Amino acid sequence: MTARKIILDCDPGHDDAIAMLMAYAHPAIDLLGVTIVAGNQTLKKTVHNGLNVAQLLDMDIKLYPGMPQPLVRQQVVAGNVHGKTGLDGPVFEELKRQPEGKNGVQFIIDTLMASDGDITLVPTGPLTNIATAMRMEPLIIPKIKEIVLMGGAYGTGNFTPSAEFNIYADPEAAYVVFKSGAPIVMMGLDLTNQTVCTPDVIERMEGIGNKAGKLFGDLMRFTLKTQFEEFGLEAGPIHDATTIGYLIDPTLFDMQDMFVEVDINRGPCYGRTVCDELNVLKQTPNAKVGKKINRDGFFDLVADCIKTYK
Ligand code: BDR
Ligand code: CA
Repeated sequence: MTARKIILDCDPGHDDAIAMLMAYAHPAIDLLGVTIVAGNQTLKKTVHNGLNVAQLLDMDIKLYPGMPQPLVRQQVVAGNVHGKTGLDGPVFEELKRQPEGKNGVQFIIDTLMASDGDITLVPTGPLTNIATAMRMEPLIIPKIKEIVLMGGAYGTGNFTPSAEFNIYADPEAAYVVFKSGAPIVMMGLDLTNQTVCTPDVIERMEGIGNKAGKLFGDLMRFTLKTQFEEFGLEAGPIHDATTIGYLIDPTLFDMQDMFVEVDINRGPCYGRTVCDELNVLKQTPNAKVGKKINRDGFFDLVADCIKTYK
C-alpha cells in the first residue's frame, strides 16, 4: 500500500503535537510538510511550539508559518487548556530550528497545484490557512483528495455551549471550507471526546521508555490538569490525533454522511457546526462525521507510533 500524502495544518497545542508525532512516525502516512496557524495561541507561539516538537523528536520535516489572525472575527486563544505558551508542560532545550520563509498558505497552494490530486489536508486548528488558500487559488479545490479535520460537534461545544474551539476561533474560514465542495471528514467533539487519556494510558506510553513516550506523558499530564480545572474531567481527550488515526486505520471509526453548515451569525450559535444528523433537510451530504471510535485500537496505534522513535 502506498503511503497517504498529507499536509498537517496545525496550531500546536498538546493534541496537535501528538498528531505531528503520529503523522511523522507511521509508514501509512507520507507527511509532506507542516503548516502552522494561529489558534491555541498566537502564531509566534504555535510556530515556536511546532519547531520545539520537531527538534525534540529529530523530525526531518519543514514547518511553514501561515495566517496570524482569523479572517473576520477578533482573535481568541485557548490558554485555558494549553497554557501561556500554548504547549505548557514539557521542558524543551534551546530552540535551534527555524521555520521556512515561505508562507504556509503558499506552501499549501504550490504543493496542491503541483500534485496529481493525491494530497489530503489535515487541519487540526482553526481553518484560516485552508480557507485563505482556497480564496487565493480556487483551482486547488478539485486537487484536494480529502480534508480530514478536527473541529466542530453535532452535540455540545467546548468553547461556547454551541461551538467547538477550532471552528469558533475562525467561523468564517470554516464556513468557506465546508461550502467548498472538497470532500470532508469531520472529527468533532462527539467522537474526539471518546479518546480520554486516563493515567494508565499515560503510564503505558511513558513505559515505552523513549523520548516520544516521555513527550506524550509530559503533554498529557498537563492536559489532564487543565481538563480537570476547566471541565471537571478526570482525563483529557487527544482530539487532533484522531485525524491521523483515521488515516492509518479507518476501520476503528464509525462515520455518518451528513450535510454540515457553519453558523456565522453573531448569536449564541456563532461557530456552531450545524450537522443534519437525521437528514431532515434532504441536502446532499458534504461531510463524513465521526460518531464512534474504538478507543483501545486507537491507543494501540498511538503506542505503535511512539515505538518508532529512538
Ligand atoms: C481543539 O481545540 C484545540 O484546543 C485543540 O488543539 C483541538 O484542536 C479541540 O476543541
Ligand atoms: Ca489543535
